[in-house]
Amino acid sequence: MLSYRHAFHAGNHADVLKHCLLVAMLRHMNKKDKPWWYVDSHAGAGIYDLYSDYARKTGEFESGINRLWTRDDLPEPLADYVAQVRKLNNDGKLRLYPGSPWLARQIMRRDDQLRLFELHSTDVQMLRSTFSEHSHHIKVEAMDGFDGLKSVLPPQPRRGVVLIDPSYEIKDDYKRVPRAVKESLTRFATGTYAVWYPKLQREESREFPDRLKRIPASSWLHVSLTIRSPDPEGFGMHGSGLYIANPPWQLADQLTTVMPYLVNVLGEDAGAGYQLEHQES
Ligand SMILES: C[S@@+](CC[C@H](N)C(=O)[O-])C[C@H]1O[C@@H](n2cnc3c(N)ncnc32)[C@H](O)[C@@H]1O
Repeated sequence: MLSYRHAFHAGNHADVLKHCLLVAMLRHMNKKDKPWWYVDSHAGAGIYDLYSDYARKTGEFESGINRLWTRDDLPEPLADYVAQVRKLNNDGKLRLYPGSPWLARQIMRRDDQLRLFELHSTDVQMLRSTFSEHSHHIKVEAMDGFDGLKSVLPPQPRRGVVLIDPSYEIKDDYKRVPRAVKESLTRFATGTYAVWYPKLQREESREFPDRLKRIPASSWLHVSLTIRSPDPEGFGMHGSGLYIANPPWQLADQLTTVMPYLVNVLGEDAGAGYQLEHQES
């Protein structure tokens, strides 16, 4: 039984980082004419109402997307990401927040394809109703996303971005994720794989980036955003990160501008900062 609902966290600092990078990665894919696939192993509900009881209970979006909403100095690709959120909020008032599948749908072209996996029965229903009109190019499956990866990789056009974005409410996710990336690389070596993870004080979380960096990928990028000093009692998420195997080549350069900007706008105390590492073999 899954208890995590992304609706509590939609639009928070972690979504800002993850979704900005997702938009940037898919834009890079659009630079060539060849079609691509986007595979989301943990897709969530697709769209979130920031006025819902869930979102209002935590108010997490207020220290996330809300802080970017009125800025007129956003660097690319942050500006592109915020422009996508604006498309859902035509009256200029921030109310709806797009999940990763919705952002991918905005950026996909006629021949691109989306494969979305989600296990939570309510969220998968919401996802299905959001994407029902695009059945040929968008498939939503109510199944385990790790198994889903095995079923769809490699994609026929041999171009693709895979987002692996579990909630880590199940400890086993810390083991399943690196295994899934390694296995997927053997099926589809040239794919781009992005793994999101939370920065928590528990041991599995602290060791996780090093485990990801040991995956034998021909190139990788690791970026993390810390928004506050870790809680002295060990509670809460003080930041998040993404590990990307086979990243688009200009992404690391773009992040040298985006990350200091995010620290400045989303940072909450002197512990705020970022880390950016990039390795080519
Ligand atoms: C962090 S949320 C996803 C957010 C989404 N990717 C986004 O950025 O908008 C994680 C989702 O994974 C789902 N989930 C958890 N374990 C899963 C599994 N093994 N396979 C597929 N979905 C799973 C949860 O129900 C939750 O909706």
